[in-house]
Formats: sequence, structure tokens, C-alpha cells
Amino acid sequence: MRVLGRSGIRVSAIGFGAWAIGGPFTKGGKPAGWGEVDDDESVAAVHRALDLGITFFDTADVYGTGHSEQVLRRALAGRRDEVVIATKFGNVFDTQTRTLTGTDISSDHIRRACRASLERLGTDHIDLYQLHIGDAPLERVDDLIATLEELVDGGLIRAYGWSTDDPERVAAFAKGPHCAAVQHEFNVLRDAPSMLTVCDTHDLASVNRGPLAMGLLSGKYGKDSRLPMNDVRGDSPAWMTYFRDGRPAPEFLAKLDAVRDILTSGGRTLAQGALGWLLARSERTVPIPGIRTVGQAEENGGALQHGPLNAEQLAQIDELLTR
Ligand SMILES: NC(=O)c1ccc[n+]([C@@H]2O[C@H](COP(=O)([O-])OP(=O)(O)OC[C@H]3O[C@@H](n4cnc5c(N)ncnc54)[C@H](OP(=O)(O)O)[C@@H]3O)[C@@H](O)[C@H]2O)c1
Repeated sequence: MRVLGRSGIRVSAIGFGAWAIGGPFTKGGKPAGWGEVDDDESVAAVHRALDLGITFFDTADVYGTGHSEQVLRRALAGRRDEVVIATKFGNVFDTQTRTLTGTDISSDHIRRACRASLERLGTDHIDLYQLHIGDAPLERVDDLIATLEELVDGGLIRAYGWSTDDPERVAAFAKGPHCAAVQHEFNVLRDAPSMLTVCDTHDLASVNRGPLAMGLLSGKYGKDSRLPMNDVRGDSPAWMTYFRDGRPAPEFLAKLDAVRDILTSGGRTLAQGALGWLLARSERTVPIPGIRTVGQAEENGGALQHGPLNAEQLAQIDELLTR
């Protein structure tokens, strides 16, 4: 188990990332989801994750333009008290056309978005409510904190955080009494030491998105793999570094090859080794691998049994990746 920073909320050390199970949606005519999904399989994956001790579920209102939250509602029915739910706000979307249409971080929008997420999730409170706009202006922080504290006072959320890769924004947000976490990009191929420092300074959890480098660290994608065009990885927008033109980026495949043996030592699969690396980097980390099948729930949940890599393995990996 791990703790969500100063909130004291306890979660499983591995969480469940629910972006992919939202199914297709688009942004500017391009795919923003991970292709078609089978909701029955998604629900079965959530149930298998619960069986294996995963109690932390990360979603966003915009994933599948509400569909991810609705699938979680179905999967978690009757088990709300066993789990910790994190969702996100800040995007505006059209559920009819399943398109992301813009952003809005005004107080009015946040209040409306919170009630809409509660409705879709079928719950009376959100445990961790996260700002989804990573580069939202710093000068809006005080207003954001005031609105989020109001939601805490009303019992609608328990804690909040920011999904951003900027430590300066995290430090500013940490002024909020109930700010408990940052969600940021973090995996064995992409270290984030300054984020761990800011988490230590402000007693925040480090919730890790992309812990498997969007699937690359499972080892199933090689140089000849081509992701489908209805998958965000297949279209490879400019911000995506792990996949380029729908194929795994060669420099990341080379790094993966360099550390493969260490990650798979001790009976771990590659994915379990990658998650074990994150668990070892700090006691504040909570990796949230995206899970879309029962098999992936089993493999990623299995990382809980293996636990963190050891200090020597961490040092060897740093050396091999020359950092
Ligand atoms: N801005 C934000 O706030 C933001 C951005 C990104 C992610 N997130 C959150 O972080 C979560 C995780 O990040 P991510 O989904 O981008 O990347 P990830 O966790 O690194 O990769 C997830 C993908 O890898 C594949 N996979 C997972 N486990 C596997 C296994 N054991 N074996 C083989 N393949 C496996 C699955 O896709 P395939 O089977 O299709 O390969 C899965 O969708 C998201 O679900 C979301 O909750 C938030």
C-alpha cells in the first residue's frame, strides 16, 4: 500500500489507468483514444484487478468523452467503499460526436464538471480530483485552489492534484491545503528526479502516468510493429515520443534492450520489472499502468507481489542508460 501524500488516503501501490477503456474519441479530427474497446472485457479487467488487490483507479471526464467513467461505475458497482477513485477536469467535450472541443478551468466549469463526473461515476465523492491541463497558467492557481477547497468543504472531493510535468506548477499548487498529489510522466526510460524532489518537499504523492511507456515497456512492440490509425499511438501526435509515425521510436527500443535483462531478473516479466523500477524510485510513487484486458490486469497486478527492484539494480540501470 502507499499513501496519497498529506491526504493520508491509502491506495494500492499499483493503480489502474482507465484512459484506454474509455474507447474512441477525437481531438481536432485525430484519434485521442486507444481504438475500439469491449466494455465487457474492460469490466472483467477491473474485477480481476480488484481480486489482485488493486484499489486505485485513475480516469478523466474526457476519456471516451465520459465513457471511461461510466464503465468504471458499472465495474465498481457495490464496491465503492473498497476503492479510491481519481478523475480529472479541465477539458470540454461533446458526447454526441465523441470529440474534445476545448478547455475550461473557470470556477463555474469546474463545479459543473465535478457534478457531471460524480453522476457518471455513480458516487457522492471523488477521492482525488486532478487538473488535466498540464500547462494551465500559473496565475490561475489561486482561483483554482479556492474552487477546489470549496469542493472539499462541500464533501464532493477529498483531495486534489495537478497532472503536469512542471515542478514549478506543482510547488505553486501545493499551497492548497488539500493538494495531495501530482500526476506526471515517469518510467524507467524517462526519469523524473525533480518531480520526486518537489513531492518530498511538499508531502505529495507522485502518481505515474505512462509507466509502461504507452505499452512499449511490455516488450510486445518491436521495430516492425505498426499501430492502427484509430489508436492515438498510430497517429503519433507531436508530443508523443515513444511512438513515431505509428512505430516504436528506435531510441526507446534501444534503451529497452539495454535494461531488459535487469528488468526481467527474479522471475519478473518486463512490465513487472518496469513497474518495480518505479516502486523503487521513491515510497511516494504510485504507477497507474493502463489496463485493458484481464491478462494485463494479472501481469500488472502481479508487480505487487514482486515489489520494488533493489538499489543495486537501480544503479545498474542508471549506468546502462548513462544517467
Ligand atoms: N495527461 C494525463 O493526465 C494523462 C496522460 C496519459 C496517461 N494518463 C493516465 O495514466 C494511465 C497510464 O498511462 P498510459 O495508458 O498512457 O500508458 P501505459 O500505462 O504506459 O501503457 C498502457 C498500455 O500498455 C498496454 N499494456 C498495459 N499493460 C500491459 C501488459 N501487461 N502487457 C502488454 N501490454 C500492456 C495497453 O495497451 P495495448 O494493449 O493496446 O498495447 C495499455 O493501454 C492512463 O490510463 C491514464 O489513466 C494521464
